[in-house]
Amino acid sequence: MFTLKILVLKVFNRLVGFMLGLIKQHQPLLLVGPGCSLTLCEDISRFGGTHVLLVTDKILLGLGLLDPIRNKLLDLGLKITLFSDVEPDPGFSIVRQGVALGKRQGCDAILAVGGGSVIDVAKVLSAAIGIDADVKTLKGFMKVKAPVIPLYVAPTTSGTGSEVSIGAVITDEVTHKKDGVASPLLCPLVAALDPELMVGMPPSITAATGLDALTHAIEAFISRNATADSDRFSLVAIKLIFSNLETAYNKGSDLDARQSMAIAATYAGLAFTRVLVGYVHAISHALGGAYGVPHGLANGIVLPHILRYSMSAVPERFAEMAIAAGLGEPGEASLILGERFVAAVQDLNDSIGIPRTMDALRHEDMPAIASVALKEAHTVYAVPRYMSQDDCLTILQQLKPVSAA
Ligand SMILES: [Fe+2]
Repeated sequence: MFTLKILVLKVFNRLVGFMLGLIKQHQPLLLVGPGCSLTLCEDISRFGGTHVLLVTDKILLGLGLLDPIRNKLLDLGLKITLFSDVEPDPGFSIVRQGVALGKRQGCDAILAVGGGSVIDVAKVLSAAIGIDADVKTLKGFMKVKAPVIPLYVAPTTSGTGSEVSIGAVITDEVTHKKDGVASPLLCPLVAALDPELMVGMPPSITAATGLDALTHAIEAFISRNATADSDRFSLVAIKLIFSNLETAYNKGSDLDARQSMAIAATYAGLAFTRVLVGYVHAISHALGGAYGVPHGLANGIVLPHILRYSMSAVPERFAEMAIAAGLGEPGEASLILGERFVAAVQDLNDSIGIPRTMDALRHEDMPAIASVALKEAHTVYAVPRYMSQDDCLTILQQLKPVSAA
């Protein structure tokens, strides 16, 4: 029975991959280098923007991180309307506030400076300010029809890939579910990967967002829907993360490591926005929904377990990732390279403080968490090795601390 289900899933997921391949992908102009967020301001003016809705959060504002950007916009003669009310896991009510403000002030460009939540809100604002209907009508896939207000982004974290992806996640405060808004029209016009905006990122956030990026790259690479393009982006991201994440974690002021991690996260974003992700994200989303575990942290904890589960299905893909990570040479046995890669991911986790287990996880919640995770995964993710409810429960069991198992 499970064999038949796997066959159906394989066909359905490949069909999803085919449909994704038909979507015209947009890609922002990417600016790279210390201070490039100021060049981004020049682009806003160059492309005709006159009044910028500056979207951020209160913490970044309080740190003074936006001061050079605000000064540059003013020097260029642009008007600024500040919207700094974005919080983690933003809801539709926050977006509505931003829409009202942007409409009232007549903003004709949006600049997001912040992490994934800030960029996601800005994406939806760019579409919602131009329509008369409520923002919730944009929920779902390809619901954004009209041209959007030009969107410019300067990420302050290196993980979500939101600066190049076509989707945004907004929480519905009524259902408490996270809803997606996805359309190629939401892709920013220009993204500035400015390491000077990232040097203040705390080590724990550096670790979690870095593992989010690594998970994007790996899950895209082992997807059955992977393409030559997504492979290229994934392998570069994996190489950069293995070379730089530990340094960025231990020495946050290292501009070169910060720059490399920013590029890695963006490349990983370019990879997964084409072929989606897999079981790590599905389980991580379910754990986040049950216990509020931050997304990147949950990914980091779950990742080694899913790698061990999946490797036997695609050992040659694991070998390619090992070589990209600098762990071996072509010609070595795939299984040996693959096992080396899985061990290296675990070592990386250990070196940057990602725990091996999750204290919050309770036995009685596991069946529901497994069901939610498999429902998500089996709807759209072309994973290399499918799992049953029992397989998923076994993995969840492994996430419990030994003393509590
Ligand atoms: Fe993610």
